[in-house]
Amino acid sequence: MARKEITTKEPPVLGQDPRRFALSIFLQAVVLGIVVYQMRQGGTLTAITNYAQALNPWSTPCGLLPHKEFFLVSDNVVLPSGAFPGYVHVRGQSIVSVTTGRPGADRLSLVKWRAEANPRAAVMDYGPAYVAPGLIDVHVHLNTPGRDDWEGVGPGTAAAAAGGLTTVIDMPLNSDPCTVSAKELRGKRAASRGNTEVDLGAWGGIVPANARDPGTLRAMRRAGALGFKSFLSPSGMHCFPNVSLDDVAAALPVVKALGVPYLIHAELVDADVPSGGDPRSFADFLERRPARFEHRAVRALIDLLRKDSSPYEPGFSLHIVHLVSSSLLPELAAAKAEGLPLTVETAPHYLLFSSEDVADGDTRFSCMPPIRSAANREGLWAGVADGTIDVVASDHSPSPPHMKRLEDGDFTAAWGGIAGLQYSLPASWDGAIKRGVNVSRLFDAWAARPAALAGLARKGKLRAGYDADVVVFDGEELADTGELERRHRHKVTPYDGVQLRGRVLATFVRGQMVFSADQGVSPDRCGKLLP
Ligand SMILES: *[C@@H]1O[C@H](CO)[C@@H](O)[C@H](O)[C@H]1NC(C)=O
Ligand SMILES: *[C@@H]1O[C@H](CO)[C@@H](O)[C@H](O)[C@H]1NC(C)=O
Ligand SMILES: [Zn+2]
Repeated sequence: MARKEITTKEPPVLGQDPRRFALSIFLQAVVLGIVVYQMRQGGTLTAITNYAQALNPWSTPCGLLPHKEFFLVSDNVVLPSGAFPGYVHVRGQSIVSVTTGRPGADRLSLVKWRAEANPRAAVMDYGPAYVAPGLIDVHVHLNTPGRDDWEGVGPGTAAAAAGGLTTVIDMPLNSDPCTVSAKELRGKRAASRGNTEVDLGAWGGIVPANARDPGTLRAMRRAGALGFKSFLSPSGMHCFPNVSLDDVAAALPVVKALGVPYLIHAELVDADVPSGGDPRSFADFLERRPARFEHRAVRALIDLLRKDSSPYEPGFSLHIVHLVSSSLLPELAAAKAEGLPLTVETAPHYLLFSSEDVADGDTRFSCMPPIRSAANREGLWAGVADGTIDVVASDHSPSPPHMKRLEDGDFTAAWGGIAGLQYSLPASWDGAIKRGVNVSRLFDAWAARPAALAGLARKGKLRAGYDADVVVFDGEELADTGELERRHRHKVTPYDGVQLRGRVLATFVRGQMVFSADQGVSPDRCGKLLP
């Protein structure tokens, strides 16, 4: 019976039944979509694209290097477990593989057979220099659009490339307008496109006017904001007023649900400080900006995080930007141990300089919060070593030179911000060697954890399938901190002429050489906008 039924029924023929035909095409498209999606997630599509790019004789790579496939060979390839002899195999924009041997192994014999099997690939031997993940700077002020005369994406990211940074994330101020809506974020991206030497992302801003407006925050996220930033104290920018703790509490559940970080400038200022004093005196400046401001803000934020019971998506953390007062570290460590989603950042100038170094009237050092004592600095280093301080970021905050008030040295009137993007690596590397902080922790703080903070899944580590974002630096040679090699638009910086070990030899952004010590910064501007 069954058999008979089958033979009497015409099998469906594609093309005869238009509905079935359409359904079949639709299903095939869905399957193809799923396959492509899975390949993208797994990086297979990137790998195939990179292969095609490397083999295509007509495509020339962006940047200073003509090779599309190469090996970066050194005695010090930086991994989470230490620095070892070996090589990083780069094809197109990605890392194909990372191979290391035991300490003391011969790096050239390690790479030999792989190089022979890949005759197209160039072998670039950097000897004892370090081959490390490119630095990811989550705190820069590039001032595009509207204040390009303060810095701008072009010179700012050229300084980044020269300094070994491969990704920078721009703050929602001090551009004009500030970035507090999706429209403003799109405007910033449009003004930055094609001008960036390194990969460039942006934070959105939360201010009193949008803190209770979830639609605006979600729209900023859709427009590409990697997270959000607020100030608890006046920012110095009209378009970026500070929020109250209530505003933070109102915005918090929305940011949590978006699974992105909420970065906060944590100082709560009060009027209970001595007035008057000598405007040139750095000691008086410190008294007007006591550590108490930071203590109140950080404690209030921890409290708020503890009380807010709304759920959060992975990727969220409340992120304290540029922590200065190291006496807060035990409380921060305890809050993290409690399981609160909290991350902490400090800046290289707090790790390098101390208030004892700052001469009265030397307003190059003016920043908020201010640089504190040498003892405090050592406390910060302990926080970097044990990971309570997750991230180091430059807080590159330039201004036109006249705003630094160098002529009269008035700390009460000088712009509060330090320009030092280009010296991020030597400033922290030199200090790390002196204190025995190992290279793996330093690059965890400068690359892996910043990538995690900003949700950059394929950056921050030397690992197969990751973007080939790499810095090569000589750990012994001095960085050139002279004015001639400085790429910042304005040359005023407290790093001027400071002797720091850690000279950047080459910077690669997704396999493209954007800087070399011999050739300088590439004129090509190979960076792209993230996400
Ligand atoms: C901003 O900070 C100032 C100074 O601390 C404070 O008086 C003001 O109330 C803050 N703004 C808001 C919205 O809380
Ligand atoms: C680096 O130092 C950290 C502490 O700062 C330690 O936990 C880690 O094991 C060290 N790693 C290596 C490779 O020595
Ligand atoms: Zn800043």
